[in-house]
Amino acid sequence: MKKTTQQKPAKTGRGKKNIVIIGAQWGDEGKAKMVDVLTEQVDIVARYQGGSNAGHTVVTGGKKFVFHQIPSGILHTGKKCVIGNGVVLDPVALLGEMESLVKAGVRVRDRLIISDRAHLLMPYHRLLDGASEIRKGSGKIGTTNRGIGPAYMDKMARVGLKVIDFYEPSYFRQKVREVVKEKNFWLKNYYGQKTVNADQVVDQYLKLAPKIKPLVADTTQYLEKKLSSGENILAEGAQGTLLDVDFGTYPYVTSSSASVGGVSTGLGIGPQWLDEIYGVAKAYTTRVGEGPFPSEMDEVFSEKIRHRGGEYGATTGRPRRCGWIDLVALKYACRINGFTGILLTKVDVLSYLKTIKLCVAYKVNGKRVNEFPAGLQQLSRCKPVYKEMKGWDGDLTKASKLSDLPAEARRYLDEMERSIGVPLSWISVGPDRSQIFQNH
Ligand code: GDP
Ligand code: IMO
Ligand code: MG
Repeated sequence: MKKTTQQKPAKTGRGKKNIVIIGAQWGDEGKAKMVDVLTEQVDIVARYQGGSNAGHTVVTGGKKFVFHQIPSGILHTGKKCVIGNGVVLDPVALLGEMESLVKAGVRVRDRLIISDRAHLLMPYHRLLDGASEIRKGSGKIGTTNRGIGPAYMDKMARVGLKVIDFYEPSYFRQKVREVVKEKNFWLKNYYGQKTVNADQVVDQYLKLAPKIKPLVADTTQYLEKKLSSGENILAEGAQGTLLDVDFGTYPYVTSSSASVGGVSTGLGIGPQWLDEIYGVAKAYTTRVGEGPFPSEMDEVFSEKIRHRGGEYGATTGRPRRCGWIDLVALKYACRINGFTGILLTKVDVLSYLKTIKLCVAYKVNGKRVNEFPAGLQQLSRCKPVYKEMKGWDGDLTKASKLSDLPAEARRYLDEMERSIGVPLSWISVGPDRSQIFQNH
């Protein structure tokens, strides 16, 4: 039999590059700021997974915007924004988000396109998320309570409802009635919580359906058409690699594919379209919710960084746990995603520390571990091995090139770059859109 080779469309000559932005740590790395900055270079910004658990902050001209489901490129008039099929769409939260953007003077309706294949986040998903966390007690995950886990569970269990189902009202009602029977069984008998009324849920949701109908489309066709005609996209990830359901610190993760594989399944485009894959990392590490965190600082230091870096959740307001940069975890994220560059944020926050630590390996029972472990138990046993470097003084928020940074800060960045073997492509030194410079 004649051998065939799979043909990849040639990348050369395509001109404009497609970009992916992925969290390289446990979320909140400053992805939205980077998306906002790089939106200038693309025609379309598309979210590929997660839902309203994301809290994506963009600061421009003293104004702060926090996006949950709407892509962070929306402030750039003239660019289109897509909510892909991999997102679990909460229509109530979406309409609220759209309304507050319109109030702030941002045009949304003619620029936002929502996948007809995205699964709907239903009111009972939120109830089940909350109930499950209460039931788990001290073993809770520390979710954002937005119903994300239960919505993805239904998708995988093949009892979910898609945006397209909104427009088949009798099918929608029948399905919700069936599903709610089971949900109520769990709510009442297992969790001891109040049940829901299926018809009330349907009536509430069917009232919302016409409001989003003009935005609904087959986004896979839309993106394919645009890509083929030479337009380019930026795929915006939510959460981060260490919260990815496959590669994160399971079970203390979210329920979606936050890493690079999620782009193809969450947008319906082949991986050959992806050119630049950027990982966004903080110059230190944070995590919200429960779960192992080997380089976590002691509470006094953590509070110091939390205060300086404003480390409070953009969705829930919860204080974020703070730690030193974890190069074992960062190298792992680089490998899993094939990052072509790192976008490093919050370097400014580390000023005025006498010593800065970098976690360069772990130790388990006296043995050095250089790879990020697969299991929760193994990771929980890991103790950080630190390299200490001299800190620096000075306000970095006005730096516009590498040479504006103090020598110690440059040394810190060099050490990081050398260790992970991926270029630090952009350096961010403050929350504002303007506080950033390209490095390589
Ligand atoms: P995301 O979820 O990854 O988009 O990040 P969040 O918006 O949840 O959290 C990042 C926070 O850091 C936001 O408050 C940003 O405004 C802020 N931020 C982003 N880059 C920088 C930076 O370089 N320096 C400082 N000080 N703050 C930054
Ligand atoms: P962005 O996109 C940081 C965390 C929660 C919890 C776990 C599971 O802003 O970076 P979930 O509600 O998804 O079931 O919660 O994941 N988490 C995030 N942490 N940033 C996020 O999003 C997060 N989204 C979820 O705190 O530990
Ligand atoms: Mg966030």
